[in-house]
Amino acid sequence: MGRIAYVNGRFVPHGDAVVHIEDRGYQFADAVYEVWALFDGRLADPEGHFARLERSLGELSIPMPMSRKALTLVLKEAVRRNRIREGLVYLQVSRGVAIRDHAFPTPGTPPSVVITVSRVDRAASEARAAKGVAVVTTPENRWGRCDIKTVGLLPNALAKQKARQAGAVEAWFVDELGLVTEGASSNAWIVDGDGILRTRDTNANILRGVTRLSLVTLAREAGLKVEERPFTPQEALEAREAFITGAGSLVLPVVKVDGKPVGDGTPGPVATKLRRLYIERAKATSV
Ligand code: PDD
Repeated sequence: MGRIAYVNGRFVPHGDAVVHIEDRGYQFADAVYEVWALFDGRLADPEGHFARLERSLGELSIPMPMSRKALTLVLKEAVRRNRIREGLVYLQVSRGVAIRDHAFPTPGTPPSVVITVSRVDRAASEARAAKGVAVVTTPENRWGRCDIKTVGLLPNALAKQKARQAGAVEAWFVDELGLVTEGASSNAWIVDGDGILRTRDTNANILRGVTRLSLVTLAREAGLKVEERPFTPQEALEAREAFITGAGSLVLPVVKVDGKPVGDGTPGPVATKLRRLYIERAKATSV
């Protein structure tokens, strides 16, 4: 059975799923998105992703296209129709279709809604986590509102490509103070020499990762000390461990930064344990 997408009220074969050429998401990146991990056909961290979606839309004055309850039903129906149990659900909401003009269209222009579902090979993801991944660093060059989850991801795409070409999986943006902000599609963490978990604070220009937030709670529950405090790439190299978090990566050990090993160059016990705890919690709280 082929993949099914949802576009503006209709479920359509993936290959036929189209939006208008004057969709503002296409022309101005005037759109926001969310990505949920899917465990056994259920959406992980639902509350966090819905809350952030509402916030992103609110910051851009785009109306919620439907209630949270209705949206949950549509997302779940998309999952069901795709018969995917382990994967990712992508939702995009744009300001809608209007004759090209930078300023907002007439009030009442309906937002465009697109949903796709893709499969994830969990065995392959676990194998990757067991080996750990490499990251490269790249100068921060994004706009000042990275807290809004917009589809304006060109710097992220370029950074990811730089990583790919270097044989790495993620790129960490480094700001003008020499501090890591976050990854191109994940948040960045270390376990420092004192065993303290460190990740950038949300007053900085980063996305407030839902996985990041859940993990702060989980780590504290597990008795670990967490500080929302920045680190440099050099501190990552001197750290015991490093890892990234996100709906796609979950909790993924980082074993190399710019070609040099972190710790002993293998996934550490803290990241490995947190990955297990996160997956357990996500499975137990998914909807
Ligand atoms: N990316 N930072 C950035 C820039 C991101 O794009 C993402 C997620 C994260 C992690 O956020 P969360 O834990 O809420 O997934 C941090 C998604 C997965 C993507 O673009 O595909």
